[in-house]
Amino acid sequence: MDSIGAVGLQQREGFPSCSQKGLPCPSDSSELVLECLQQFKVTQTQLQQIQTSLLGSMEQALGGQASSASAVRMLPTYVGSTPHGTEQGDFLVLELGATGASLRVLWVTLMGTEGHRMEPRSQEFVIPPEVMLGPGQQLFDFAAHCLSEFLDAFPVSTQDLQLGFSFSFPCHQTGLDRSTLISWTKGFRCSGVEGHDVVQLLRDAIKRQGAYSIDVVAVVNDTVGTMMGCEPGVGPCEVGLVVDTGTNACYMEEARHVAVLDEDRGRVCVSVEWGSFGDDEALGPVLTTFDHALDQESLNPGAQRFEKMIGGLYLGELVRLVLAHLAQQGALFGGCTSPALLSRGSILLEHVTEMEDPLAGAARVHAILQDLGLSVGTSDAELVRYVCTAVFTRAARLCGAALAAVLSRLQHSREQQMLQIAVATGGRVFEQHPSFLSILQETVMLLVPECDVSFIPSVDGGGRGVAMVTAVAARLAAHRRLLEETLAPFRLNREQLAAVQAQMQEAMAKGLRGEASSLRMLPTYVRATPDGSERGDFLALDLGGTNFRVLLVRVTAGGVQITSQVYSIPECVAQGSGQQLFDHIVDCIVDFQQKQGLSGQSLPLGFTFSFPCRQLGLDQGILLNWTKGFNASDCEGQDVVCLLREAIGRKQAVKLNVVAIVNDTVGTMMSCGYEDPRCEVGLIVGTGTNACYMEELRNVASVAGDSGHMCINMEWGAFGDDGSLGLLRTCFDANVDQASINPGKQSFEKMISGMYLGEIVRHILLHLTSLGVLFRGQQTQRLQTRDIFKTKFLSEIESDSLALRQVRAILEDLGLPLTSDDALMVLEVCQAVSQRAAQLCGAGVAAVVEKIRENRGLEELTVSVGVDGTLYKLHPHFSGLVAATVRELAPRCAVTFLQSEDGSGKGAALVTAVACRLAQMDHV
Ligand code: G6P
Ligand code: BGC
Ligand code: BGC
Repeated sequence: MDSIGAVGLQQREGFPSCSQKGLPCPSDSSELVLECLQQFKVTQTQLQQIQTSLLGSMEQALGGQASSASAVRMLPTYVGSTPHGTEQGDFLVLELGATGASLRVLWVTLMGTEGHRMEPRSQEFVIPPEVMLGPGQQLFDFAAHCLSEFLDAFPVSTQDLQLGFSFSFPCHQTGLDRSTLISWTKGFRCSGVEGHDVVQLLRDAIKRQGAYSIDVVAVVNDTVGTMMGCEPGVGPCEVGLVVDTGTNACYMEEARHVAVLDEDRGRVCVSVEWGSFGDDEALGPVLTTFDHALDQESLNPGAQRFEKMIGGLYLGELVRLVLAHLAQQGALFGGCTSPALLSRGSILLEHVTEMEDPLAGAARVHAILQDLGLSVGTSDAELVRYVCTAVFTRAARLCGAALAAVLSRLQHSREQQMLQIAVATGGRVFEQHPSFLSILQETVMLLVPECDVSFIPSVDGGGRGVAMVTAVAARLAAHRRLLEETLAPFRLNREQLAAVQAQMQEAMAKGLRGEASSLRMLPTYVRATPDGSERGDFLALDLGGTNFRVLLVRVTAGGVQITSQVYSIPECVAQGSGQQLFDHIVDCIVDFQQKQGLSGQSLPLGFTFSFPCRQLGLDQGILLNWTKGFNASDCEGQDVVCLLREAIGRKQAVKLNVVAIVNDTVGTMMSCGYEDPRCEVGLIVGTGTNACYMEELRNVASVAGDSGHMCINMEWGAFGDDGSLGLLRTCFDANVDQASINPGKQSFEKMISGMYLGEIVRHILLHLTSLGVLFRGQQTQRLQTRDIFKTKFLSEIESDSLALRQVRAILEDLGLPLTSDDALMVLEVCQAVSQRAAQLCGAGVAAVVEKIRENRGLEELTVSVGVDGTLYKLHPHFSGLVAATVRELAPRCAVTFLQSEDGSGKGAALVTAVACRLAQMDHV
């Protein structure tokens, strides 16, 4: 505008003098026009204020505190990723609302990365005004009719038609195919639609039409279609900007910043709906009387104020209002108006486009004005073009300020000062008005100079983009179906868990009776939990968990003090010779004694040996078989206490008095029992899993006596080795079992414990990758590596805070090409695997506590369970799921889970202390 000089006006001759007509002279007219157009000037300060205020309104709405109707809406669109370029297939697209009184049906073929670009077939249908303002059902029936007409005209081969619905109005989306209209904009005002799911309305209309079965897969805002329609290779565009009849933008926001989405993972496309921006303080100064007049006469006064200054539906009207005003002031058309000039909507966007276009030339302007019944003076054409330019330039600048706000938001959201971003543009204002984009670009560079912005015009008004979203939606839906099918066997229902509980109770009874059972139900010769009178110093060994520990346990009246040291058991020792293993254990004891100044002392020793042992006494335990990656030779079938004593014997000058061998479940029960005498169950969910409990001696066939109790080591890790868990076993469990050093063994353990969950997840990820559901189907060497997906990853990934960043970090460390959808699916895989493990564990505990309740013929049982193990302790949801399953399956048992703080080493020392006390009493 600054560049505009009144110079040109003077030279034009041959008109009756204006003063003669009591009209302002041409120079006056142009002054009047220029003066009037002053109000369309928007200063840099005002633009910055609009940028800041709009950014503020965006962040408020993102935080869920949208202050007023005049705020932007920030609507999540459930589009979580920009196109891969791998999208393929044929899609129907229905566009409603982007281009005003017309809808468009397209048939889009996506060729994926290989194929060349196929030109979509499309057909435009004009929407009669009475349909735009009538009952909603009529509008959707009209749309369904257009779809059939299109398909009749362009018969397509495939029966299962997948449709993407581009619906360009503000909607609350609750899924890619669920969207509720908030309010109509842009000349639409159908009844019975606001507050309703427009996808359902379309589905119902298509059903009523009954001509074709069309699956509406996705609903998309036109800005999203524009963004997604970005040509692969130039994009991905992460902002979509539309200026057609209306205006709006969308962009990829970090999901964790979108309060309404309780999702803190990945990105999500947010439709800003900046058309409703109307912050008085920011917009007040730039709103002109013409804007207020236009708003008052619009279908939605007070709403969409920002859009009414930019959208193509309004620019023509603004020009008309200005021209009418200037004519009435006598500055134009000889001070004469015309019915057309005074009637709303008589000047359209196309008119303004032409009149503003210098190439169109004055003649064309004349023609348009004459069509409006105006007598056009020589200078009028030029002045009218000024008016058009003023209105346009303001629109472009305001749009630039709004886009600058979005770019500032992206800088914040991604903590990137130097933002490099591609913006996809769509809409007839861009297509028909090249200067609109250049003015907008100028404004953006002015307001966010540090952003490197490239503008990519959308190829076909976003139709392809909508097809992309539909393809993504269809792919996600297909992937989701495949993911659900894959994970379905892990989703155990109450009946299945109750069946596991019943099968376990039956196996327990058989095992106790000495009949064939996958539960060995091994007597431990621990007959009582501590009574607090234990005293003395004891050595304890804790072998079989993640760490091997040597402990000095001092039991006094004041409680138990523990000094311990962790030693590693290298795999070559754990899988070497038995002699090597036990010599290594004794070396650690000697090292510990030296460090603790205990050398030469022969303290009573309790040995927590966390493997299945048939005990013949407290200090006799025949190893039945190794588990958990241990496989030392010449041990199975041996009394491990003897093996330890022989190793001690081989080490000169070491005197140790091995008093008891206990299983870690027993040690854990005893350790917790020391604090809570109701603790009569021990549970381990760590590298391996197992449980023990105090059984009535009368029920233990292999031990004489029928009064009192005996702690039974169930060795439930082997539950199901007889095939009784076959129905629950998945192919992934079979893969893990096949690859283990003890195939066919420890079935229950291999579905629950820490040594195996990571492997189950890895096999599922490999399977889903082979289906193309994950990592774009790219199998990586790393993911094919055994044990590369540690079980601790599950605990990290499933932790509630910021898991996705951790998911990404973990998976990127594994060298996996990761998309946010992938990360979400990996999370679901971890959740399904750990949930099944926890529920199965819960079903096992329910079987045990119900056994105790029935043993004692109690209506209600109150009992505590001592628990240890890394998985149980570190996994964020495991313990809660176990407790919930026990409540569900054993409602008559009030079960308290006590996490053991000092591990089972303390328990082993307490068992030793009890044994020593009982031995002293025998000697007394
Ligand atoms: C604690 C106990 C060990 C037990 C282990 C199981 O550390 O002291 O006796 O074997 O937990 O858990 P983990 O996760 O180490 O296998
Ligand atoms: C609607 C938006 C749409 C924009 C451009 C606005 O009136 O509220 O949803 O994206 O027009 O078509
Ligand atoms: C062993 C049990 C042990 C459990 C937990 C299993 O593999 O067989 O004896 O209690 O792991 O450590």
